[in-house]
Amino acid sequence: MLPHFISGLVVRGFGRGSKALGIPTANLADDVVDTLPKEFNTGIYYGWVALERNIYKMVASIGWNPFFKNEKKTIEVHILHTFPDDFYGKEIKVIITGYIRPEKNFASVDELIKAIKDDIEIAKKELDKPEMLNYKNDAFLTS
Ligand SMILES: Cc1cc2nc3c(=O)[nH]c(=O)nc-3n(C[C@H](O)[C@H](O)[C@H](O)COP(=O)(O)O)c2cc1C
Repeated sequence: MLPHFISGLVVRGFGRGSKALGIPTANLADDVVDTLPKEFNTGIYYGWVALERNIYKMVASIGWNPFFKNEKKTIEVHILHTFPDDFYGKEIKVIITGYIRPEKNFASVDELIKAIKDDIEIAKKELDKPEMLNYKNDAFLTS
């Protein structure tokens, strides 16, 4: 199943990522979400993302966001880098290299934020391992 390669345009999500959570996510367009293999498990993943010729670490949430009870499946990528502006309409290329956990519901927004921060720490560490660093140079991202 992994690594899994995805590219597509960044569209507007519900706007909760940056406002309610302080964790902005780049949502991929619906037609990209539809290309996910049926057997691809929903959940929280990590990997690499290319945006405008730069490559960054990322964490991604794939599924229905049980905390917000979304009715549509989404792919939301949180890039581990601070950008001055948003990048709706831009293309990103993503390599999903590892799985962290299933999507969960939480009793409060604070618990959701805490879980995402833990995910980010896991992603940072895992992506520094040689077998994961290799994907950073993959032609899919660099070309
Ligand atoms: C690393 C990561 C982990 C996440 N984990 C969960 C989760 O366990 N449960 C959940 O309901 N949503 C989870 N989310 C999704 C957030 O709820 C979502 O990004 C937020 O609703 C913003 O959505 P929006 O961009 O559509 O506004 C996660 C998001 C990220 C980036």
